[in-house]
Formats: sequence, structure tokens, C-alpha cells
Amino acid sequence: MIAVGYVQVNDCSMKLPEPFGFLLKCRQFLIPISDAAQTMLILGIETSCDETGVALYDTEQGLLAHALFSQIAMHADYGGVVPELASRDHVRKLLPLCDQVLAKAGRDRNDLEGIAYTAGPGLVGALMVGGSVAHALGFALGIPVLGVHHMEGHLLAPMLEDNPPAFPFVALLVSGGHTQLVRVDGIGQYQMLGESVDDAAGEAFDKTAKMLGLDYPGGPRVAALAEKGREGIYRFPRPMTDRPGLDFSFSGLKTFTLNTVNDAKDNDAFDEQVKADIALAFEAAVVDTLTIKCRRALEQTGCKRLVIAGGVSANKRLRAGLEKMTAKLNGSVFYARPEFCTDNGAMIAYAGAQRLQSGQRDGERIVSVPRWPMNTLPPVNEPRANGLVD
Ligand code: KG4
Ligand code: ZN
Repeated sequence: MIAVGYVQVNDCSMKLPEPFGFLLKCRQFLIPISDAAQTMLILGIETSCDETGVALYDTEQGLLAHALFSQIAMHADYGGVVPELASRDHVRKLLPLCDQVLAKAGRDRNDLEGIAYTAGPGLVGALMVGGSVAHALGFALGIPVLGVHHMEGHLLAPMLEDNPPAFPFVALLVSGGHTQLVRVDGIGQYQMLGESVDDAAGEAFDKTAKMLGLDYPGGPRVAALAEKGREGIYRFPRPMTDRPGLDFSFSGLKTFTLNTVNDAKDNDAFDEQVKADIALAFEAAVVDTLTIKCRRALEQTGCKRLVIAGGVSANKRLRAGLEKMTAKLNGSVFYARPEFCTDNGAMIAYAGAQRLQSGQRDGERIVSVPRWPMNTLPPVNEPRANGLVD
């Protein structure tokens, strides 16, 4: 909904009063920028890895529709994501998914007032697909476009739930590529407290799954197998918990798992029950390690609220462990519904909406940044006409 329009021709801008709003229809030359305080209907596009996610978020009415196509079946034969196949599949699925969410919400392309897409971190070809579609649509419709940080999307996903966390809070980001503890004072106000010095937690789950003969992606499969495991058969180390600090390391745990698997094989004991026992011991070690570090982070910052986000935050044992720990500290833990823990378009639509609404937007350049530290993002209330990358 645009009451006042600004036109940009080359780099000059001028303000148009309401009666001249019709000029905004000259799309090639005039790019409207909506008022910071106004409501906006945002299309969110996620294509950073192996899921094509699209969502429609209204800053007043909330999430209107979302759709996801997972490429898991396509990559499963290769035991992991094949980047070129991922990009090609995003090309096939993205526009039909955009039409699908618009139809679900009873809207059409002309109702859109902004587009948010994942600009990184991620696979560069896959990111380029989302960025190209977002910029092409934005240009055709004459609406602002913004490249969003994928991990900020994850971090803010719990805001889509009924009881969203208030700032400040400590966030544990646990995905396939990241394990980070962050102090969050507001959108774009991130202080990195600790991170993995090697493998990410999700990566450790995926590698353990391979050792146990389970398919990609391993996290949910290891978790399901662990439910059949017997407590106390194996005890795995809790890496880096015996020294101060908030960094993580999961590569030693991976080696420990490999040695345990090889010992069981050597002793002809690598049966379904032993696999389940190993899965349980591994999962318990990851959960304990993450819980110990989260408790430290809460104590160190004095925060009472803990947010967990990213694919591994869907893990039930992790949620239970953190619920128990935060309850002891009179605190609370917040997380998104499972489908919004893993990659999805809703988190990108939400994060993008907050920033687009405050006047942040890309220039003409499509932004795709394979590696992008989240603490370099600007605060949400700092309007930028050239996107979020310095
Ligand atoms: O956030 P995400 O969907 O993608 C990245 O940004 O990386 O996270 C995917 C990761 C994978 O490593 C997957 O195995 C893990 O999250 N994961 C889980 C569970 N669900 C997904 N790990 C443990 N337990 C789960 N239930
Ligand atoms: Zn992700």
C-alpha cells in the first residue's frame, strides 16, 4: 500500500505527492519506495541449498501462505547435495511455487509490495537462481527487492510463532553449515559469542548417519534411530566442555563415532540394536554439549531467553534438554515449528519484510554471497539503498 511514492531515475530521487501516484506505473523508470511505517506484502524466496521455499508475508496480517519443494530425493542417490543439480531444480520449481503461494493467499503478482530473497550464505549457483527471479520480478513490478542473510532468516523464524521471543536473547544457531551462539539485542544487532571451530552440529549428524548406513539428510534419521537405542551402552565425549569459552568442536566426536562403529564391525556386532545404541550415544553427546554451552552463554550475558534455530533445532532431545536447563535458570526457550526450523521461504519473507519496511533495499545488483558473517549486517533501522552487503 503506497501513499507517498519516491521515484528514482538514475541516482536522483524526488518525492511525489499522492495525486501523482499514477506515475509509479511507468515501471522501467520509476521505482516506488514505500513509507517506512506502512504495511507491506512481501514475497520471500529461499534457494540457498536443496529446498526451494516461497512464502507470502503481510506485515500487518502475518504469514499468508508458504510452499516448499525439497530436493532430498534427487540428491539422496549421491549421499549429499550436488550443487549443479540443485541450481537446475530451483530454476524448474521457483516460479510455479511463487504462483502457488499467491493463489493460496488469493493474491496476484500486482499485489506484491516487496521481494526478499536469500543472498547468502549458500551455494552460489542456487543463490543466483533466487536472486535473478527476485530482481526480475521486482524490476517488472516496480517494487523494492532485498537480499537477506540466510542465518538471520533462521534466527528470526521463531518470530512467526504465537509466543515470539522479546529482545534481548541468546540464540543458538544449529544448521548443516553453522553452529553459533549469538547475543541478539535487536534485528541486525548481533554479537558472536562462540561458534564451531570445525564441523557444524548438523554436519556431524549427517556424517554419523553415513557411518550408520543411513540416508542423507542424516539428522532426522539418526534421531529416529536413537529412539530405539539403549541408555548407557556407550558414552561419547562432550567436546570442549572441560574448558572455559563458548566455541564448539564436533570433528573429534565424529572420529570417536567412526572408531566405535569400526570396533563394532571388527567384533561382528554391528547390528540394528548396536547402530541404535551408537545413534543415541552420539545424539546425547551433541545435546549435552550444546546445552552446557547454552547455559554458559545465558549465565555470561544475564539473558533469560534462549532462541534455537536452524535444522538441528527440530531435534526433540535437544529441545527437551534445553527446556530443562532453562527452567532451572528461570528462563525459557523459543523455537519455530519443525517445518520452519529447516530451510523455508517464510523465514526469508519475515526477515526481509522487517528490513524492507524500514527502507532497506538492494540497488540494481543481484547479491549472492557464498560466505557472509552475520555480525556484519546493519541494524534494521538504518535505511540502505544498496542492500545489506558493504
Ligand atoms: O537449517 P538447515 O535446513 O539447512 C542449513 O542451513 O544447513 O539444516 C539442515 C541440517 C542437516 O544437517 C540436518 O541433518 C539437520 O539440520 N537436521 C537435524 C534434524 N532435522 C534436520 N538434526 C538433528 N535432528 C533433527 N531432527
Ligand atoms: Zn538453513
